Amino acid sequence: MTTTKTYIKEWQQALQEEINHLKKFGGSRYSVSNGRLLSNDSSYRYYFDTTVALRLPVGSFIKLEWGTMKSSGKVLSSEGRGIILELEHNFGDLIPNANLLHDPWELLEQLIERLDEIKKSKQKRLRVKRLMNPSMDSKHPKEKIKSNVHELILRSKYNAATFVWGPPGTGKTYTLARTAANKYFKKNKVLILSHSNQAVDVLMSEMTAFIKRKKRFKEGDVLRYGGNIGETLSLHQEITTNQLIEKQDPLLAKDREKLVEERYHLKQDLANSFSKRDSDNLLELEAKFSRILEKIRKKEVQLVKDAFIVGTTLAKAASDSAVYEADYDIVILDEASMAYVPQAAFAASLGKRVIICGDFMQLPPIASSRNSLVSEWLKEDVFHKAGVVEGLNEGKLHPQLFLLKEQRRMHPDISAFTNRYIYQSLVEDHESVFKSRDSITALAPFKGKAVMLLDTSFTGMHCISDKTTNSRFNLWQLLLSFQVIHEANMDGATSIGYVTPYRAQANLMEMLLEEIYEKERSGIDIIAATVHRFQGSERDVMVFDTVDSAPQDRAGMLVTGKDSKRLMNVAITRTKGKFIQVSDRNFIERHIYKGRTLRQLVDHQVQNNQTVTMKEIGSWIRNQHPKLRWIHALKVEVIFRDLRSAKSSITICLPEGIKLSEEWNKLLTNRDKRIKLTVISDQKWGKCDVWMNESFPFPFMMLDDKVLWLGLPFEGVRAINPPYVAARISSSRVCEYLLKQI
Ligand SMILES: Nc1ncnc2c1ncn2[C@@H]1O[C@H](COP(=O)(O)OP(=O)(O)OP(=O)(O)O)[C@@H](O)[C@H]1O
Ligand SMILES: [Mg+2]
Repeated sequence: MTTTKTYIKEWQQALQEEINHLKKFGGSRYSVSNGRLLSNDSSYRYYFDTTVALRLPVGSFIKLEWGTMKSSGKVLSSEGRGIILELEHNFGDLIPNANLLHDPWELLEQLIERLDEIKKSKQKRLRVKRLMNPSMDSKHPKEKIKSNVHELILRSKYNAATFVWGPPGTGKTYTLARTAANKYFKKNKVLILSHSNQAVDVLMSEMTAFIKRKKRFKEGDVLRYGGNIGETLSLHQEITTNQLIEKQDPLLAKDREKLVEERYHLKQDLANSFSKRDSDNLLELEAKFSRILEKIRKKEVQLVKDAFIVGTTLAKAASDSAVYEADYDIVILDEASMAYVPQAAFAASLGKRVIICGDFMQLPPIASSRNSLVSEWLKEDVFHKAGVVEGLNEGKLHPQLFLLKEQRRMHPDISAFTNRYIYQSLVEDHESVFKSRDSITALAPFKGKAVMLLDTSFTGMHCISDKTTNSRFNLWQLLLSFQVIHEANMDGATSIGYVTPYRAQANLMEMLLEEIYEKERSGIDIIAATVHRFQGSERDVMVFDTVDSAPQDRAGMLVTGKDSKRLMNVAITRTKGKFIQVSDRNFIERHIYKGRTLRQLVDHQVQNNQTVTMKEIGSWIRNQHPKLRWIHALKVEVIFRDLRSAKSSITICLPEGIKLSEEWNKLLTNRDKRIKLTVISDQKWGKCDVWMNESFPFPFMMLDDKVLWLGLPFEGVRAINPPYVAARISSSRVCEYLLKQI
C-alpha cells in the first residue's frame, strides 16, 4: 500500500510539473489592444483595452506577446474592459494588438505549501490516509436510516470519510445542504468547499434557505467567504463577507464603495478618451484601495473565526490562512469530480470528518502538462484514485460510497438519453418529474416539446477558430441560439442557460447579451458559459450549442476526446424542462463516429423525431428582436435598402467562388463616394477603397461597423442549400470581433 508520505511526494511533483509547464507555455490567452505607455521610470506601465472583462486578480503574473517580442509582467488593475499591466520591457508608446497570457499557477504553489504542512502533522496525514484508503467497514447503524439525508448524517457521523455519488439531479447538493445544516444545529463547525464559486454559491444558498425555513438562521453563523458573488446568492446577501462587514463597520464599507465607484468612472473615462492624468489617478486609487483592503482583511479574519459554517472555493481555502489554519468538525466537498486529488486531500486534512460528493461521470479536473504524474494525479478524480469506483462494474458498491439514484431535475424526455447512454440505466426518474416540468416544457419555442435539435446542416461555413485562443466559434449558430433564448424569454421563461464546449463562443454570447440584451435580461436569470462553468447548476431552459461545422475538417477534441462523454453529460443534464440543441447534423454524422456521445445524441434526436431544419425556421420564430432580424433570404430588396442607408462604411466579404450579381455590383459602384468600401476577397477588386487580399470562409456584409448581415443570397456559396434566411444583427462588438479575425 502506498504510504501517505509517498502520495504527498508524488502530488507535489505533479503540481510542480504542471507549474513548470504553465510557466513555459502559458495557459489562458487573451487578446488585448490599444496599449498605451503610462510611465517608464523603473518598469513600464501600459493601459490596454480588452474585448471582455478579464477580471484577473491584481498582482498576478502575466506574459505579453507582441509579434516576436515577449515580456513578463504583472497585473496592476483589471476591471471592466480595461487592464493596466506593468511590464519588464519597453515596447514603445503604443502597442496596437498583443496577446496576454495568464495562468494562476500561484494557486498550485500554495497547494504545494499546504501539502508541506500536512507532511509535518501526524493528525493531518492520518486524515489524508483515511481519504485515500477508505475503511472497508462502515460503522453507521444501518437499521436506523429514515431517508437519504438521514443516511448521510449517520454515515458522516460514524465514518471518517464518506463518498457520495449521484448522477445529475439526484439531489447531491440538496442532501449536502441539509446535512450541513443539521451538523450546524448540533453546534459543529462546518467547512463547505467546491471547485468553483458558482458551485459554492449553489450549495450555500440551498442550505441558507433551508436554515431560514427552519427559523434557525442567525446572522454571522453562516459565512460565504470570498469570491465574486453572482446571481445565485442574491437572495441571501446576508451571509456574504461584504454584507456582514457593511453591517459591522458601515464607514469602512462606504470608503470602499466610494473607491470602487471612483475607479469605475476613471476606467470609463480612460476607455473613452485616454489621458495621462486619469491613469496616474487610477494608480493612486489602487494604492488607497490596497490600504482599505488591509483593514477589511482584519475584519474578514474575525468573521471566519466566528462563523459556524464557512463556504468558499478550494483555491481560496488553500491560499487564505484564515481558512486553512482553522480546524473543522466536518469538511464537505461538492463537485469533487472536478477537484485535483491533492486538493481533495487538502480538504480532508482540515476536518475530523469529510464528505466527498460528486459524480465521476461528470467533468474531471483539468491540467495541461503531459507528464505522467500530472496525468495520474491532476487529471483524474478522487473517486477513482481512492478506489471507491472499482467494484462498480461487478455491481459492488464500496461500503463508504453512498449512491443517490433517483433524479428529480430533468423532464423524462431529457433524461431518457443520459439515463441510457451515460448511466447504463442505473438512474431512475423520480415520479415527480413526470408532471412538475410540464409548465416549462409548454413554453416557446417548440411548445410542448422538452427536447429539440435545431439542425444547421448546409447553412454555410461559419465555424472558425479565434485567432488568439484557437477556440472555435460559429456566428450563425450564435445568432440562432440567441433567437431561441429570446423566444423562451418572451414566453415567460425565467431561467435560461446557454452552454457550449468552446470558450470563444461562450464569450461571444455573453458579449452579445451584455450589448443588446441588458434590458430584456434584467430580473431574469440568463447566463452564457462553457460546460465547465455550468457543472453543478441547473436552468429551466438550456440551449446547447455544439459550434462545430464546416469549414473545419474534423470535430474538435472537446467533443470527441477522452473526456467528451463526461462533457456532453454535463451539458445535457443541466436542464429542467426544455433542452434545445443547436448542431450541424450533417457535419456530426460525417465527422464523429457512432460510439461517441455527441453522435449518439444526434442519432437519438433523429430517431425520436426531435429535429427541425433551417428550412422550417419560420415555424418557430415568433418574436423578432429589434437588433436581430431574420428575413427570407430572397427578399433582397430589404438587404439593398439597408445597404443604401449606410452612412460611413460598407465592408463586404466574398469567399472564393462567389460572384456578385449585376444588381449588387451596381449598388456598390454607385454608392455615395464618401462611403468607404472595403472588400475582403482573394480576387482582385478594383472599384473599392480598400481591398483586403484574404480568403475568408463565409460571406458577410457589414455596415458602418455596427450592422452585420449573414446568410446573404450570393451565388456560388459552397456547402449551402438555398439560403432560406439571412440574419441582420446590430452589434458593434460582434462586428469589431469579427474584423479582428480576418
Ligand atoms: N429529496 C428531494 N425532495 C425534493 N426535491 C429534491 C430532492 N432532492 C433533490 N431535489 C430537487 O431536485 C433538483 C436537483 O437536485 P440537486 O441540485 O441537489 O442535484 P445534484 O445531484 O446536486 O445535481 P448535479 O450533479 O447537477 O450537481 C433540485 O431542484 C432539488 O431541489
Ligand atoms: Mg450539485
